[in-house]
Amino acid sequence: MRGNDVVLSDVSMRFGDFTAVHPTDLTVREGEFFSILGPSGCGKTTILRMISGFLDPSSGGIAIGGVPMAGLGPNRRPTALIFQNLALFPLMTVWENVAFGLEARGVPIVERKRRASELLSLVALDDQGHKKPTELSGGQRQRVAVARALAVEPAVLLLDEPLSALDLKLRQHMRAELKDIQRRTGVTFIYITHDQGEALTMSDRIAVMNQGRVQQVGTGDEIYDRPATPFVATFVGEQNVFQGRVTATNDGQAVVDTAVGPLRGTSQGTLSIGDEALLFVRPERVSLMNGATASPDNRIDAEVERRDLEGSFVNLHLRAGNHPISVHLTNAGSGRDVVSGGQRVSFQADDAVVMRAGEFARE
Ligand SMILES: Nc1ncnc2c1ncn2[C@@H]1O[C@H](COP(=O)(O)OP(=O)(O)OP(=O)(O)O)[C@@H](O)[C@H]1O
Ligand SMILES: [Mg+2]
Repeated sequence: MRGNDVVLSDVSMRFGDFTAVHPTDLTVREGEFFSILGPSGCGKTTILRMISGFLDPSSGGIAIGGVPMAGLGPNRRPTALIFQNLALFPLMTVWENVAFGLEARGVPIVERKRRASELLSLVALDDQGHKKPTELSGGQRQRVAVARALAVEPAVLLLDEPLSALDLKLRQHMRAELKDIQRRTGVTFIYITHDQGEALTMSDRIAVMNQGRVQQVGTGDEIYDRPATPFVATFVGEQNVFQGRVTATNDGQAVVDTAVGPLRGTSQGTLSIGDEALLFVRPERVSLMNGATASPDNRIDAEVERRDLEGSFVNLHLRAGNHPISVHLTNAGSGRDVVSGGQRVSFQADDAVVMRAGEFARE
């Protein structure tokens, strides 16, 4: 364990007879940009409120930097929380908003001024200190909220869907800003979102949650390429899904007998012959064979039904019998990717995951 790791041991939260968070072990490392990703109601805010001290766990314990947090209120923890709707003080200037927490802690005015201008510079608002929050754009207000939370020098900054109120362009811009602020300050960020794009672009590691349970913790690449459960596989990114029974297993791979024939993929978890299983392969990992002579691990004959131009890529919808197949092709320009009629598509076993059947994400 390092200096200010946040460690949850067997932490759960019950409200009456409803369990919002099942017993959870989780370690967020010092200096990490850590995201908690999951659909609405899965328990993300509840976990954040327990870390920040606004809510006492029903069981288990939380330690920060090796110090048990039980019995310590929010003000006595090395954390600061930015709420979903950020609530700046509307009658105070930007400068006063940022310095507010310092005044409450009895920091003298000269030091408050110095620290506030340092923080405003950190969030690129040097010349905006005299304004009221209503005179700022949404993104600027968001940066004031970050500066205000950082003013008290937390070891851990907790952010609860801080960008959800902003429009798409601004949200994408703020992703880079927040990531940059995190890198420059070295403060641990625990960032809650239900937006997978946000989690994938900003995070060192991500915990994917569903219905009060953490289903997987890993880097963006691990979550995307090696999802641990059907829920994670379908919540993050797009997938082709084939269902069937396992007919063979060897060398970390499994063959599934599906409606489009036997398909081979990388086993996730232990699988035995006869198991009801799912094979997932992402649309961008499937290609058109176009008369190629190489022999890929998996081949499917299908009919092209529709071509959707998405911009940088083309989404080709095919059908093999009753089974839909989606293939993402890089947009090569001038409609060079236009194909029709019968096609043979292929993918490698390395690019597909096979796991025991289970619950999908509903989105
Ligand atoms: N004080 C409470 N009393 C009873 N139930 C609660 C309470 N707080 C939260 N819950 C329930 O616990 C579950 C998890 O809530 P939580 O706020 O953690 O979800 P969330 O993942 O943050 O969702 P969202 O993305 O919508 O903010 C929900 O079903 C919610 O209704
Ligand atoms: Mg929430």
